[in-house]
Order: sequence, then C-alpha cells, then structure tokens
Amino acid sequence: MKFRLLPLTLLAVFGLAVAAGPDYPLDAPAPDGRRPGGTITQEFTPPPLKDEENKDLKRERNYPEQPPTIPHTIRGYQVDTNGNKCLACHSRANSARTQAPMISITHFTDRDSQTLGAVAPRRYFCTQCHVVQHDVKPLVQNDFENIDDLLYHENKQNEQ
Ligand code: HEC
Ligand code: HEC
Repeated sequence: MKFRLLPLTLLAVFGLAVAAGPDYPLDAPAPDGRRPGGTITQEFTPPPLKDEENKDLKRERNYPEQPPTIPHTIRGYQVDTNGNKCLACHSRANSARTQAPMISITHFTDRDSQTLGAVAPRRYFCTQCHVVQHDVKPLVQNDFENIDDLLYHENKQNEQ
C-alpha cells in the first residue's frame, strides 16, 4: 500500500466503526447510583438544586483530615487565574479583618513539603476539596463509622 493512502484507509475504517453505533443495548438498565431507575440512554429531568445552607455553623468532621465543609454560601464567588474570592477573606493577610479562619499551614506546603509564602498551587482551587453544606440525605448509602464509634464497639467486644 502506498503510504499516502494511509489517512484515507484510516478514515474509512473509523467511519465504519462510528456507523456501527454503540456496542451496548440502548435499553440496558442504568446502574442504581445517584440516579436510580431508567435506562442508560434515558434522560430525566434533574431534581431542583437545594439551596446552600448559610448558618455559619461548623459541622462535625468524620475524621481529622477531612476538609471542613463550608458553613456559608459561596454563590458567585469566583476562583480562577485572575483572582480567588475565598482568599479575599481566608488568606493570612485578610483573616484578621474579615474574622474568617485562616487557611491552615498545610495549605502553604507544596508537594515537596516546602512551606511557601502564600497558598500552594495545589490548594488554590478551594472547592476541589471544600464543599458547601446542604440539608440532604446521602445520595449513596454507606456504613461508615467514625473512629470514636469504632473504638467504642471494639472495647465493648473486648469486655465480653
Ligand atoms: C466574605 C468573607 C468570606 C469569603 C469570601 C469566604 N469565606 Fe469562608 N468563611 C468566612 C467566615 C467569616 C467563616 C467563619 C464561619 C462563618 O462565619 O460562616 C468562614 C468559614 C469557612 C470554612 C469553615 C472552616 C472551619 O474550620 O470549619 C470553610 C471551609 C470556608 N469558609 C471555605 C471558604 C471557601 C472555599 C470560600 C470560597 C469559595 C470562602 N470560604 C469564601 C468568610 C468568608
Ligand atoms: C487538596 C484539598 C484542599 C484544597 C484545594 C483546599 N483545602 Fe482547605 N482544607 C483541606 C483539609 C484536608 C483541611 C483540614 C486539615 C488541614 O487543616 O489541612 C482544610 C482546612 C481548611 C480550613 C480550616 C483551617 C483551620 O485551621 O481549621 C480553612 C478555613 C480552609 N481549609 C480554607 C481553604 C481555602 C480558602 C482554600 C482555597 C484557597 C482551600 N482551603 C483549599 C483541604 C483543602
């Protein structure tokens, strides 16, 4: 085969593959996850978004390393290359004026364990880890137990 025919051949092969369509049944039941019921290809009207809680109340953390949930609304707070609205209140320099808790020391540490003078790039996009609070039930059931409950049950077992 001449080499310059290669693109044409590739195009023909891929064209055929696309024309063949998906290789899964269109009416396959969707996995019962966040959106229970229906089939994979079926579109549902999503449920309305719940309002963010704005109560200024901390929630218990499930484990010490858990990023605390955000106890205030963040609607309209922009975080991009030009600015970070969160740091307007939570940075070292601004936290005294705003009385927002300062980002902790871990947020200044880069991946080589070097402590920087400002927020580390890997901590810049706050909502990658911190989420707002909603009054909703867990989407997926789980049997997570926090460490206090675990230890309590273990002690109970040892006593028996
Ligand atoms: C206008 C100032 C302001 C802005 C902007 C702001 N915060 Fe806050 N934040 C606060 C204050 C004040 C608190 C203390 C609790 C309260 O009053 O809600 C707080 C609390 C928090 C907490 C809880 C800390 C803890 O120890 O439980 C988190 C997490 C947080 N903010 C994250 C964010 C993120 C992420 C953004 C940006 C999307 C942001 N904040 C933007 C003022 C602000
Ligand atoms: C990679 C995940 C991650 C990112 C990104 C991140 N945080 Fe955190 N944050 C955490 C974790 C985990 C904790 C709790 C443990 C700790 O302090 O490191 C925390 C704690 C905090 C606290 C509580 C501090 C304290 O002393 O109690 C505040 C406030 C906060 N973060 C704000 C922010 C803001 C503002 C940003 C964006 C500039 C941000 N975080 C980005 C993971 C993250």
